[in-house]
Amino acid sequence: MHIQQLVAYWPLLVGLSQAADQQPSFDVLDYIDPLIGTANGGHVFPGATLPYGMAKSVADGNEEIQGGYASNDGLITGFSHMHDSGTGGGASLGNFPLFAQTGCLNDDLNNCYYPSTLRASAKINETVVAKPGYFAIQLNTSVKAEMTVTNHTALYRFTFPTDGTPTKLPANGTTPYSPLILADLADLSGSRTDSIISVDAHTGRISGNGTFRPSFGIGNYNLYFCTDFQGAKLRNTGIFVNNRAGTDRKSFRTYDDGQSPILPAGAWAQFHPPANNQILARVGLSFISTAQACSNAQKEIPNFDFESVRSDAEDAWRKKLSTIKVDNTGVSDSLQRTFWSGIYRTLISPQDYTGENPLWKSNEPYFDSYYCIWDSFRSTHPLLTLVDPHAQAMMIRSLIDVYRHEGKLPDCRMSLCKGFTQGGSNADNLLADSYLKGLTDGIDWATGYEAVVSDAEVEGQIWTVEGRGGLQSWKTLGYIPTDDWDFSGYGLFTRSISRTIEYSYNDFCIAEMARGLGHHADAEKYLKRSGNWKNMYDPTSRSKLNLTGTQDYSLFTDSGFEGFLQPRYLNGTFGFQEPAICTDLYNFNGCYLNPGGHETYEAGSWLYTFYVPHDQATLITTLGGPDAFVRRLEFMHNTPGLFYIGDEQAYLLVYEFHYAGRPGLSAEYLHRYIPSAFNDTTAGLPGNDDSGAMGSFTALSMMGLYPMSGQNVYLVIPPFFPEVSFTDPRSGKTATIRNINFDAGYSNIYIQSAKLNGKPYNKAWVTHNFFLDGGVLELTLGPQENTKFGTAQADLPPSASTHFWN
Ligand SMILES: *[C@@H]1O[C@H](CO)[C@@H](O)[C@H](O)[C@H]1NC(C)=O
Ligand SMILES: *[C@@H]1O[C@H](CO)[C@@H](O)[C@H](O)[C@H]1NC(C)=O
Ligand SMILES: *[C@@H]1O[C@H](CO)[C@@H](O)[C@H](O)[C@H]1NC(C)=O
Ligand SMILES: *[C@@H]1O[C@H](CO)[C@@H](O)[C@H](O)[C@H]1NC(C)=O
Ligand SMILES: *[C@@H]1O[C@H](CO)[C@@H](O)[C@H](O)[C@H]1NC(C)=O
Ligand SMILES: *[C@@H]1O[C@H](CO)[C@@H](O)[C@H](O)[C@H]1NC(C)=O
Ligand SMILES: *[C@@H]1O[C@H](CO)[C@@H](O)[C@H](O)[C@H]1NC(C)=O
Ligand SMILES: *[C@@H]1O[C@H](CO)[C@@H](O)[C@H](O)[C@H]1NC(C)=O
Repeated sequence: MHIQQLVAYWPLLVGLSQAADQQPSFDVLDYIDPLIGTANGGHVFPGATLPYGMAKSVADGNEEIQGGYASNDGLITGFSHMHDSGTGGGASLGNFPLFAQTGCLNDDLNNCYYPSTLRASAKINETVVAKPGYFAIQLNTSVKAEMTVTNHTALYRFTFPTDGTPTKLPANGTTPYSPLILADLADLSGSRTDSIISVDAHTGRISGNGTFRPSFGIGNYNLYFCTDFQGAKLRNTGIFVNNRAGTDRKSFRTYDDGQSPILPAGAWAQFHPPANNQILARVGLSFISTAQACSNAQKEIPNFDFESVRSDAEDAWRKKLSTIKVDNTGVSDSLQRTFWSGIYRTLISPQDYTGENPLWKSNEPYFDSYYCIWDSFRSTHPLLTLVDPHAQAMMIRSLIDVYRHEGKLPDCRMSLCKGFTQGGSNADNLLADSYLKGLTDGIDWATGYEAVVSDAEVEGQIWTVEGRGGLQSWKTLGYIPTDDWDFSGYGLFTRSISRTIEYSYNDFCIAEMARGLGHHADAEKYLKRSGNWKNMYDPTSRSKLNLTGTQDYSLFTDSGFEGFLQPRYLNGTFGFQEPAICTDLYNFNGCYLNPGGHETYEAGSWLYTFYVPHDQATLITTLGGPDAFVRRLEFMHNTPGLFYIGDEQAYLLVYEFHYAGRPGLSAEYLHRYIPSAFNDTTAGLPGNDDSGAMGSFTALSMMGLYPMSGQNVYLVIPPFFPEVSFTDPRSGKTATIRNINFDAGYSNIYIQSAKLNGKPYNKAWVTHNFFLDGGVLELTLGPQENTKFGTAQADLPPSASTHFWN
């Protein structure tokens, strides 16, 4: 009774404490820096977007352009309207960029700059402004570009220099002030095949379409755009091809003839001097038709009102981020920026293309840019489930609809195309995660279950992009043989170790769904198959490390550890792959998704031997018991170069100490990586952000949570704030994690004891019910590991072998 009251009154208390702790002037947008992760391989998209928005506009550079813009010395080639964030693949989208020039030298059209190589201009560093819903930059041409967006439309405001500064120096003659804005039939990766563009001589409207290729997948897609201008009287219009422009023709078509190079081509509109030196350009986008691109623009931005579009975008972000509150007392601005920017990046993608899917007719939502689920199932989607469960449910519905219409769930998907599968069929994990967390919102779980069973039972025809490969061997031998003989589908025969261990976890996730849906026999079957990882464990294999910097492998030093996952052949014998391969110590780049890649994906067997999210209890026994397990895990973290935190499968290894009864070590190691590897600088990500994977891992960790995605379990460490709270936007219930003895210098990072809703609680983990029911988890902290908290066998987080049926 007392506890119920406490829970019932809690929202009020949170409200009060916030008023006290956060200044009334606190604006979450002040703590978001979209430029974090725009250097050093983060590939973050830093431009203007709404949460899950299809329109994503930014200035595009010409160096490290995966996210469009990067913080480097690259030149700016244009301003384009759609992007993906954090990709490890090629550069996505970036179609139909605009570029604005003050005038053409000697008023000769052919003296303006058309192809991106010629028009590329240096940026003025100090003028770059990146904010949620807004991006601005000034080029050395003195032209300033600002941009904001709605869901399917980008709005640009170009400001021209009043003094007629020439667009490029040096130049002979004069450049009369008569702005020219072009639209280029290009995309960031140069993948265009057929396309068409036209300009209306009376209105200046430039519209068109093109066929392009996805950045990490197969097939192609068509995109349509529609650009209207406002702010100056139209003077002339025309097209350009290569570096020549003309006024006679008002449209141009390109073809992929298999021979000619992809010519720079596009259309332009030239204007009389604008009254206030500004011209607005509104670009509507659609995957359906030019007409729909135009109507999207007219509907969403009828008045070209830049300031109101921008402030609506800001409000949309404030609203989305309002479900999480922190007491920021004592916490540095830098850590707060790291935190909120991480959540912000998590909400950039997947992108809501509902109403824009030309591939099939459906009343279901359609989201795209699952880029990739291998990366995002671990923390991006679990964070979305906490911040915006409705959106997460819509994403699950859209994935199930992909299964309905394309026959398989995707592991990666972008630009309406099938993307490459990196290991397992990890949409299984994602569906299980949402299923176990009770998401409904109209989700057809029966079909969802059918979809994951299809992954487990029916080999993907092209399993490079759908489902799994090697299912015959999986079912009969219980592992993916390194020399697999597989004629049921088509795919890349590498990664036999990491595929085996990922398929094991996929099957575990299916077993959990089967258990929940009452398919008892299936649950037994997939639970059994989830133990298949053991079939690739070779207890006698050892690892030699390059600790002395020699070129000669035979002189490497034995690590002292025995027993790793190893290649295994059809005939049952083991092969050998040095467990340290694909770490910084030995051939880091040897394990990508390409022919000749090794038997593990983007990491070595050192890492994958730990990758058993569902049955740590068995793994710990296999590796010699809790002490030996902890010793090996610490050795990995402590040996420079052996562990790389910049790839998503690594996250689990920071928190696995929990399963050996040492949750304090998880906190300790996590603090080694935040902020040293995840921080608020432009180079502040250790790897590609991958649709907010790095951002969500950082934010969740700073809230004291590691979701064991695919299970109803969150491992708990002390948050980086005195207190954090989560309000379920649907029920209004609030769950709070509060630190007692918090110190902002982070010496008190060890939980001494805990209370859940006032009652002693001895587990270092919670289930999603904590967030659904609301309540208070109170953690009392100290400067030393307390060996009594979270250590008892009964208090350990669940494992398949110990807890599946109870
Ligand atoms: C501009 O900023 C980039 C990083 O964003 C830096 O690499 C470059 O040196 C800067 N250029 C100048 C001229 O300061
Ligand atoms: C702007 O930058 C480009 C690329 O570096 C250069 O070619 C051009 O001369 C510069 N223009 C001005 C006005 O400085
Ligand atoms: C963008 O789309 C979302 C999802 O359909 C919708 O909730 C939101 O209101 C839209 N935003 C604006 C500014 O129209
Ligand atoms: C500019 O003048 C120089 C020297 O007179 C000449 O060599 C060059 O071709 C001229 N450039 C243009 C663009 O007219
Ligand atoms: C692009 O538009 C043209 C003209 O309307 C049309 O003929 C063509 O089929 C369109 N291309 C695609 C890929 O839809
Ligand atoms: C061992 O490490 C050194 C750098 O410490 C490197 O130069 C060398 O190539 C490595 N040896 C091998 C075989 O990778
Ligand atoms: C099993 O197959 C592997 C790979 O073809 C081969 O190297 C090995 O010698 C075979 N072992 C036996 C016992 O036949
Ligand atoms: C920030 O993170 C980057 C990437 O992991 C790292 O290289 C850098 O040293 C970190 N900076 C600070 C100040 O910790």
